[in-house]
Amino acid sequence: MKAVAITRKLPLDHPDCFELIEVPDPVPGPRELLVRVKAVAVNPVDYKQRLARKPEETAPRILGWDASGIVETVGSDVTLFRPGDEVYYAGDVTRPGSNAELQVVDERIVAKKPGSLSFAEAAALPLTTITAWECLFDRLGLTPGNLEEGKGKSLLILSGAGGVGSIAIQLATVLTGFTVIATASRPESTAWCRRMGAHHVIDHSSDWPAELAKLGFPTVDFIACFADTTGHWKRMAQAIMPQGKITAIVESPEVPDIGLLKSKSATFAWEFMFTRPMFQTPDMIAQHELLHEVATLVDAGRILSTLSHNAGQLAPASLANAHRDQENGTMIGKQVLEVAW
Ligand SMILES: NC(=O)c1ccc[n+]([C@@H]2O[C@H](COP(=O)([O-])OP(=O)(O)OC[C@H]3O[C@@H](n4cnc5c(N)ncnc54)[C@H](OP(=O)(O)O)[C@@H]3O)[C@@H](O)[C@H]2O)c1
Repeated sequence: MKAVAITRKLPLDHPDCFELIEVPDPVPGPRELLVRVKAVAVNPVDYKQRLARKPEETAPRILGWDASGIVETVGSDVTLFRPGDEVYYAGDVTRPGSNAELQVVDERIVAKKPGSLSFAEAAALPLTTITAWECLFDRLGLTPGNLEEGKGKSLLILSGAGGVGSIAIQLATVLTGFTVIATASRPESTAWCRRMGAHHVIDHSSDWPAELAKLGFPTVDFIACFADTTGHWKRMAQAIMPQGKITAIVESPEVPDIGLLKSKSATFAWEFMFTRPMFQTPDMIAQHELLHEVATLVDAGRILSTLSHNAGQLAPASLANAHRDQENGTMIGKQVLEVAW
């Protein structure tokens, strides 16, 4: 099969940073699917994995952990899918990624794609959907579908317009009754947060706890932080309500001072969306279930694809451009590449 891979560690503007390679077709294990990839999305994990490569590493590595495609063959123990099914999934960062013609993926982290979406629109969703869902419902402990629980309560989403924020705002407004306050620092990202359904938008580059207080929220019940955990830490400790909960997804160069939460008996939980596949946790089928639930909501017209930019066909040059855009840190929604070899 063909794939776009990194080989030597090269700067992004080097023409060989990504190379079109030919490798043997992967073979699915008993609980795995072989998927013909139709579209892939680009996420910060892609450039973080590229930048983390060691100079001595030269074996090709296929990046990309967000895809939609068609099931080609299934392993002997697969029960959830059949050849021909149209699917979407994020995959497992410890295994070869989706920037390829074919990919092997465990059926427990895959779902049928929303039938109402194109492959490109569907590929925009899985990685960020899993992250946002696990943040809201597994780490913060909100109950999906319970609109009473959040009445009179507030959820702050730091970084509302990025890939994760865009779907988190929608899941929170559609599936909980919380007042959703998102953050954005530019007019276009502010407008996007409102389009995703945020009730209020404040600027994260300002003294945002003061902005919150001006809106009538001196503290908030829950915080989901999707950017700069270290930079926002003290303000999160200030803005969280006594006995509130904070979740964060961005690795922190310094260990956050958990002591700042003690007097408020506040809880902090990391979220890492690859935990379940990486450790093969007994509940990893929860990712199949949540992607299925979200596909149903999309087909019912209640959740929108977060696709904002179709970056063309997957190739070394288009993938380099997509990594560059992602590294800039100013993405609104998601960018997707189509796979058409
Ligand atoms: N742990 C996990 O499982 C997991 C999963 C997915 C992603 N992540 C990580 O989470 C981060 C976000 O991912 P993403 O896909 O949402 O990224 P993204 O799409 O690149 O996010 C871009 C957005 O970040 C906002 N932003 C930039 N600096 C900010 C700051 N200091 N405070 C608040 N917002 C800021 C920007 O808003 P403005 O332009 O309005 O400023 C922009 O719209 C990345 O570091 C990624 O690696 C972790």
